[in-house]
Amino acid sequence: MKNIILFGPPGAGKGTQSEFLVEEFGFVHLSTGDIFRYNISNQTELGILAKKFMDEGRLVPDSVTIDMLSLELLKYPNSEGFLFDGFPRTKDQANALDSFLGERNLEITAMIGLEVPDEDLRLRLLERGKVSGRPDDANIEVIQKRLDTYYNETAVVKNHYEEVGKYISINGLGTIEQISIALKSEIGHL
Ligand code: AP5
Ligand code: MG
Repeated sequence: MKNIILFGPPGAGKGTQSEFLVEEFGFVHLSTGDIFRYNISNQTELGILAKKFMDEGRLVPDSVTIDMLSLELLKYPNSEGFLFDGFPRTKDQANALDSFLGERNLEITAMIGLEVPDEDLRLRLLERGKVSGRPDDANIEVIQKRLDTYYNETAVVKNHYEEVGKYISINGLGTIEQISIALKSEIGHL
């Protein structure tokens, strides 16, 4: 059983690639961004709380995000492997994930980071913003804030896995298909 973290800045292609990886490996895909957006569209208490942070390109507080993730994990007692997308985004989230998995005698197999230059990320997100209706794609200021948040708060999480030899870097520039082939090959060899 493999448990993978798909890592990378906003717009790196985590969500896009997750679909192919779920198809190939049968992962349970847990995207914290998608879960928050589902709660926003259903106007739950969690969604209302998360929305104000997301619309500004800031992280939802750890306490809220970690509690939510732990409840999500409980829904899949028989998972054949998890694919985490957009989580963990802080050191505290990484520690919490390690302990949630540890309680089930599981562990992270690898963190795979998609590397894409900022200029390409900005263009991808601005382009999607024209049609997605995602408030956090709507203008360059909020996109830049998401990138700043990534570099200031999230990028460090990579060290957590690098220190234990579990970080793998993948070039996230290229066609969606090329990147998917590279990811499948990496995961297939783990
Ligand atoms: P989240 O939903 O995780 O968004 P994100 O990581 O900021 O960005 P995206 O999901 O847009 O990027 P992605 O890497 O999935 O790329 P995608 O495949 O979509 O988080 C949103 C917010 O929720 C956060 O800002 C925060 O507020 C909150 N949040 C979430 N998790 C949290 C946590 N753990 N803690 C605290 N707060 C949290 O692709 C992007 C675009 O590029 C698409 O249009 C796609 O078609 C295109 N594209 C993809 N691949 C390629 C390619 N190879 N070539 C050209 N275009 C491509
Ligand atoms: Mg995503």
